[in-house]
Amino acid sequence: MNKPILALAPMAGITDSAFRQICGEYGADVTYSEMASVSALFYKPQKTLELVRFNKKESPYIVQLFGNNPKHFAVATKIITEKIKPEGIDINFGCPAKKVFRHGSGCALLSQISLSREIISAVCENTSLPVSIKIRAGLKNFSALNFIEKTQDLPYSAIMIHGRTYEKGFSGEVDFEIGQKIKKRFPLKIILGNGGIDSPEKARDILKKFPLLDGLGIARGSWGRPFFFSQTKDLIKKGKYATYSFPKIKKIMLRHAKLMYKDKGDRGFFEIRKHLSWYVKDFPGAKKIRKNLVLVKKSEEIEKILSDRLRI
Ligand SMILES: Cc1cc2nc3c(=O)[nH]c(=O)nc-3n(C[C@H](O)[C@H](O)[C@H](O)COP(=O)(O)O)c2cc1C
Repeated sequence: MNKPILALAPMAGITDSAFRQICGEYGADVTYSEMASVSALFYKPQKTLELVRFNKKESPYIVQLFGNNPKHFAVATKIITEKIKPEGIDINFGCPAKKVFRHGSGCALLSQISLSREIISAVCENTSLPVSIKIRAGLKNFSALNFIEKTQDLPYSAIMIHGRTYEKGFSGEVDFEIGQKIKKRFPLKIILGNGGIDSPEKARDILKKFPLLDGLGIARGSWGRPFFFSQTKDLIKKGKYATYSFPKIKKIMLRHAKLMYKDKGDRGFFEIRKHLSWYVKDFPGAKKIRKNLVLVKKSEEIEKILSDRLRI
């Protein structure tokens, strides 16, 4: 894969098949699923398999797993490898959400080296696919560097590091230096920096300032802007990028809605609403049309609202 790698980072409730396809069409080199519970896959896999299903057009695609039981990780990895056949499997060591953290999953594992080693081994031993991990900069006194030092001998190939500690949640300063430090110590691991990258300019500047990073994970920066990836690539290669006029964005919105509907049926029209609001947020009259867009039930309605209100 060419570097820098620009990945669509995993986001529960957001990185479904339709959004991953759209981001892939606009330059994302790799996309991650929403996090999938290994215990759900262990006990009752059908619903979770639906969650991580993908369209072959989407590749390369990585399924992210979360949980805290190595046996469940082993079984879930086999199921995903055989039934979903993605390009890779990722393990979530970074989620701070209460319902995940309280169960000792996600970021709570950062301080539990021996259990984390068991989990990584369970995944690596049950798939021939590349395995990656997603971590945070730290948890209490435990730093990501320490976690990597103590697990690096296991055969996972890539690390996406959200440069905020557990305590910082989703805001505040992001430490990209820690990704560089890890790369310096363990040059064979692929390192993607993540956190707070909300414009192509910022993405370019971070890659310049931290040249050891192999790439970046983009999460909220892609909301309403799936072309973030191609814009960043153009900025790096050509020093500039094309902006998107409203008619172009409207086309993307309609395609996104169509893909969502194809994949999820009527439920898709509930789930597309937040995306539609994000797409229009910087356009004049956005407040007014958001009110209507959040009620849409059909793609013709989206088209009508956009044409009526913005007169295009
Ligand atoms: C709504 C939402 C859902 C998320 N879900 C996941 C997830 O399922 N797995 C995961 O590892 N990280 C998840 N994250 C964290 C992101 O992947 C990313 O690390 C974080 O948002 C920081 O990047 P950003 O500042 O570019 O948004 C989620 C973040 C958000 C905002």
